[in-house]
Amino acid sequence: MTTLEARTVHPLSMTTEAEVTAVRDVLVDAGLLTEHVRVAFFALEEPPKAEVLAHSPGDPVDRRFRAVLLDLSTGRSWDTVVSATDRSVVSSRELDPPRDGQPPIIDTEFEMIEGILNADPQWLAALERRGIEPSTVRAVPLSAGVYDYPDEVGRRIVRAFGFRQDHEKDHPWAHPIDGLVAYVDLTARSVDRVIDHQDVPVPETSGNFDDPEVQGSPLDSLKPIEITQPEGRSFTVEDGHVKWGRWDLRIGFNEREGLTLHQISFDGRPICYRASIAEMVVPYADPSPVRFWQNYFDCGEYMFARYADSLQLGCDCLGDIHYVDAVLADDLGNPRTITNAICMHEEDFGVLWKHTDLFTGSREVRRQRRLVISFFAPIGNYDYGFYWYLYLDGTIQLEVKATGILFTSATPGDYATEVAPGLGAPYHQHLFSARLDMMVDGLANAVDEVEAVRIPMGEGNPYGNAFTRSRTRLTRESQAQRQAAPDRARTWHIVNTEKKNGLGGPVAYVLHPQGGATMLADPGSSIHRRATFATNALWVTRYDPAERYPAGDFVNQNPGGAGLPAWVAADRDIDGQDIVVWHTFGLTHFPRPEDWPVMPVEYTGFTLKPVGFFDRNPALDVPATQAKHCH
Ligand code: CU
Repeated sequence: MTTLEARTVHPLSMTTEAEVTAVRDVLVDAGLLTEHVRVAFFALEEPPKAEVLAHSPGDPVDRRFRAVLLDLSTGRSWDTVVSATDRSVVSSRELDPPRDGQPPIIDTEFEMIEGILNADPQWLAALERRGIEPSTVRAVPLSAGVYDYPDEVGRRIVRAFGFRQDHEKDHPWAHPIDGLVAYVDLTARSVDRVIDHQDVPVPETSGNFDDPEVQGSPLDSLKPIEITQPEGRSFTVEDGHVKWGRWDLRIGFNEREGLTLHQISFDGRPICYRASIAEMVVPYADPSPVRFWQNYFDCGEYMFARYADSLQLGCDCLGDIHYVDAVLADDLGNPRTITNAICMHEEDFGVLWKHTDLFTGSREVRRQRRLVISFFAPIGNYDYGFYWYLYLDGTIQLEVKATGILFTSATPGDYATEVAPGLGAPYHQHLFSARLDMMVDGLANAVDEVEAVRIPMGEGNPYGNAFTRSRTRLTRESQAQRQAAPDRARTWHIVNTEKKNGLGGPVAYVLHPQGGATMLADPGSSIHRRATFATNALWVTRYDPAERYPAGDFVNQNPGGAGLPAWVAADRDIDGQDIVVWHTFGLTHFPRPEDWPVMPVEYTGFTLKPVGFFDRNPALDVPATQAKHCH
């Protein structure tokens, strides 16, 4: 008990090992966590916003955690909430998988997939016909989606591809065994069916980007770059509470969203109550009979932040780094700490503002810097980095870095790039959903769509140079389902409806989308129905603490329609309310030969900037760089 109560707890404090253990004990004592039951999801159950905002230091806090339990022997599952403070089960509901979907895929299931396949005569026969020794095959259990297989309804299914691994250090992604897929029942631990569609040669190219022979002789002209910060860093972090310059915020971490930012404020004024990447989906474009179903929700189906890297100073992160550990639960409900999961540091970011004046001789320059808060998670073949940036001028930016190894096929054609001889990389998208629970200078917010408007030449515009901008308030959820329009410089202003700035204009932050493609799959497709969030660049909803994940709470084998499309059916008023902005952004990836055998980082993201939030440049107070550093 003492370890739980010894510290001053904030409702959003980082999860501790003692709390995970306390939850586990409660679940065991309640008879919910038994021999065959695994913890398929675990995270802090954050209190509703009003409670967190009303919290003062020293107030009592009820620390609750949500644990999804899966009985491996029966396939039954439960969504539970446990109070670690009161040591009690708050609620427990059994899932109805045909309606709710399935708990995420867990490590135990990754571990058993090859054993299941290697016990199946059809799988073994398909390998034998191809001349492949089963012990060299690495299998990956891939989320099944929901397709036209009535016998799969309500059952816990994955679909598995095999890749040939020629030796211990050989990257199997280079050797896809194409034309072959197995559908596996994880509860029965048996193969449902093997689709042995066609014989294609296994590509023989090397994927061993880490082998000096493959790399070739190293470039020897690069001199070291070292970052020195002789007086150390200029931010503080205490149990997730961060202060830097005029910024103040909290950070959190959970296995589903990874890094979360909370109560972001500048100069004491709130901007965003909570920001996270609440879902992502990677739909693939290849309609082949063995891979039409490929689309992975790395957050909702795999809880990808479980696999977050322990970052390394000098390699992953440069400068005066502060690392934060993340405490998660493993399949058995025991605490598991990822050391150095979150990296925080300051980065010089070039010129902030500058002017050399013709008339006054004034010559002023200030340097921009940003606070970087990041983590990196490998999930299967890919690696995703999530970098939140806070800038001295009030800008907030998210940058996602996608790297790692392409998902491969042996059938390059209309839907894949041939990235090495005989090796295909199917076209795909990486679509992310940022959940931005905004609180611009207070709770009463609204979203205005602001874009450029061309003015035809004529009266009032005799020379045709005029253009202006339009501002349209999105007043209801049905109206707030929008696409980006880069040709019209479309942005969305999140305004406070009760406050004006010193100039009489709205106090606002503007969301600048990058404007890439949204979901390209057909509106009649299964993935369109299951990842409807990804069909619009913008959604706005009325705040509801239960509305957290845009494709629903249980995404794995969810039949679709959950999350955003279900919530906005209520068509709530979002004008001057407590609102949540959902922004879809991402990459449409037509792989390049240069993406093989390991992919240079691709970037995507978005930016939030103050617009009328301040009455003038908020970074006039940034001091000039000391003279000894500029000559
Ligand atoms: Cu990609």
